[in-house]
Amino acid sequence: MTRKKITIVGAGFVGSTAAHWIAAKGLADIILVDIDEGIAKGKALDLQQAMIMNNKDIKIIGTNSYEQTKGSDIVVVTAGIPRKPGMSRDELISINSKIVEDICNKLKEYCPDTILIIVTNPLDAMVYKVYKLMGLPKNKIVGMAGMLDSARFKHFICEATGNSPKEVDAMVLGTHNNSMVPLASKATINQVPLKQVLNKEKITGIIEKTKNGGAEIVKLLGKGSAYYTPGLGIMEMVEAILKDQKKLLPCTAYCEGEYGAKDIFIGVPVILGKSGVEEIVEMVLEEQQQMNESIKHIKKLIDSL
Ligand code: LAC
Repeated sequence: MTRKKITIVGAGFVGSTAAHWIAAKGLADIILVDIDEGIAKGKALDLQQAMIMNNKDIKIIGTNSYEQTKGSDIVVVTAGIPRKPGMSRDELISINSKIVEDICNKLKEYCPDTILIIVTNPLDAMVYKVYKLMGLPKNKIVGMAGMLDSARFKHFICEATGNSPKEVDAMVLGTHNNSMVPLASKATINQVPLKQVLNKEKITGIIEKTKNGGAEIVKLLGKGSAYYTPGLGIMEMVEAILKDQKKLLPCTAYCEGEYGAKDIFIGVPVILGKSGVEEIVEMVLEEQQQMNESIKHIKKLIDSL
């Protein structure tokens, strides 16, 4: 098997935690790129030495140039400013737009055909921007948010019922924002619908906690935002693509009518495999009205790009 290579742009908490999960799983060599050369090199060196201790045959390189990203199987873009307590993700649009544009110019030179996983916020707008700038087919560009929001949804279900995560199946679609759509109607515990386990009030509480999950962590940290769960969400998506797992995962994908969304990126269930987004899986949703709200929100956000 040829060695796989992943580039992670942004060696902040999310990028370096994703690198950590990917390396620990032994999935691929990693190029960690950051405008701050010292941070990229320092974290890469530390992670490399950790992998030596962990007996993993993985090469990790830190750099502030894109030359070594050539030939990457996947590029993950995490670079950008995180929100501060009290801020919405949308308020980051102008500053992160510029960062993303600069990255795309570099990627066009060194990795013009690679599959891209976008993580920078406001996610739905940043994925769209990358799609327009890179000119790649829609299957090659995907955003990570659904994995994170779904993990939070499952966490709050487990917290309310006392069940193990293995028993809980639940997904969040829509925008990575307060109008995200936790699919309470489809959530199950050991195949039993959530609505048979918890009353309406409890479920509404879980939905609210899920929507507020990112802001809760931002407030507690005081500086920066979540990174363990986003990092793991990235790793799961990278693994599905590299191993051609054809896994059904909630990801931010380009829609052309699916779920009523046209010419936007939005969180939908996709099949993730070696070609990237291989299919968008359509389901009839009790929450379609909320999906429509998500679509409206994303369109407005894109208009302000
Ligand atoms: C969050 C940020 C990373 O939801 O968007 O934690």
